[in-house]
Amino acid sequence: MNYLVTGGAGFIGSNLVHLLVQEGHRVTVVDDLSTGRMGNLAGAEAALAVGSVADTDFMMRYAAGVDGIFHLAAVASVQRSMEEPGACHAVNVTGTVNVLEAARVNGVKRVVISSSAAVFGDNPDLPLRPDSRTGPISPYGLHKLMCEQYGRLYTARGWTEVTALRYFNVFGPRQDPKGEYAAVVPKFITALLGGGRPKVFGDGLQTRDFLFVEDVARANLAAMTCPDAAGRVVNLCAGRETSLLDLLAALAGATGKHPEPQFLPPREGDIRRSYGSGEEAVRLLGLPAWTPIPEGLARTVEFFLRKDLDEPA
Ligand SMILES: NC(=O)c1ccc[n+]([C@@H]2O[C@H](COP(=O)([O-])OP(=O)(O)OC[C@H]3O[C@@H](n4cnc5c(N)ncnc54)[C@H](O)[C@@H]3O)[C@@H](O)[C@H]2O)c1
Repeated sequence: MNYLVTGGAGFIGSNLVHLLVQEGHRVTVVDDLSTGRMGNLAGAEAALAVGSVADTDFMMRYAAGVDGIFHLAAVASVQRSMEEPGACHAVNVTGTVNVLEAARVNGVKRVVISSSAAVFGDNPDLPLRPDSRTGPISPYGLHKLMCEQYGRLYTARGWTEVTALRYFNVFGPRQDPKGEYAAVVPKFITALLGGGRPKVFGDGLQTRDFLFVEDVARANLAAMTCPDAAGRVVNLCAGRETSLLDLLAALAGATGKHPEPQFLPPREGDIRRSYGSGEEAVRLLGLPAWTPIPEGLARTVEFFLRKDLDEPA
């Protein structure tokens, strides 16, 4: 098949691109390289078009003649969406409408979009199910909820089929450890490998549902081809509630480093507990078992050990 991957130079997008190429598909990546890196695509035979999903003409041009679009491009940061809601809306919401319009006009059969557990806000009714109450508490969560609704509308109107995957907390190779918005797994790993003390905000007992990125890439491909997935919003989670201290202990095992963490005051708006029920995704998309967290962490550590963290993009 001939696929377009927006945000394909980013963390999850590049893992998806590598999978698609391995499976024999033709792939074009659309990315503005704002957080993505060309280096993430090294070794994958994929074309790269540098530009923004917020640019209507650009999207129209690149959606021509493709069989399906994986839409991952976004400003993927809750904190940044708090600081710059308007700029993030332009990419996360208007950019998504541009992608869906480009699909409709070009007769693209299906678009798989990346949503987020952030649509649930701090809903305490755990585990989170597909029909659990949504209530975003950040512009980012609201943007993702709007994208899901646009997806439902486009499917219902017969304009193009849309499937939204609500990712919980994704980790794995190529996740960016740098910058103030970086995620916890690569930050812990680079702190441990660099001989430092990992920083924990709060008491470390806050929980998340961690997913290995290769499972997320496979779920994207399944969502593109599964006949029953059209118009669906699917929670992509494994149902494993893991605290940050548990995660750190597993990483200490994988790296052989056991420093005392540095405890810092809790971050404002940090959700205490989050995990979902993952059976629906497995059943609907016919996914194999989730990669066990220790195995995913070991493979992620291996990646960071091989990589020169300061190498240019
Ligand atoms: N990482 C997670 O745990 C997680 C959880 C839930 C949802 N998501 C969603 O998954 C998707 C991928 O996230 P990620 O973690 O790989 O983040 P990422 O920042 O690594 O990837 C986003 C990619 O989009 C590109 N991009 C940003 N703005 C763009 C624009 N205007 N035009 C074109 N490209 C643009 C970036 O350069 C980057 O390559 C995002 O939609 C994100 O919201 C991620």
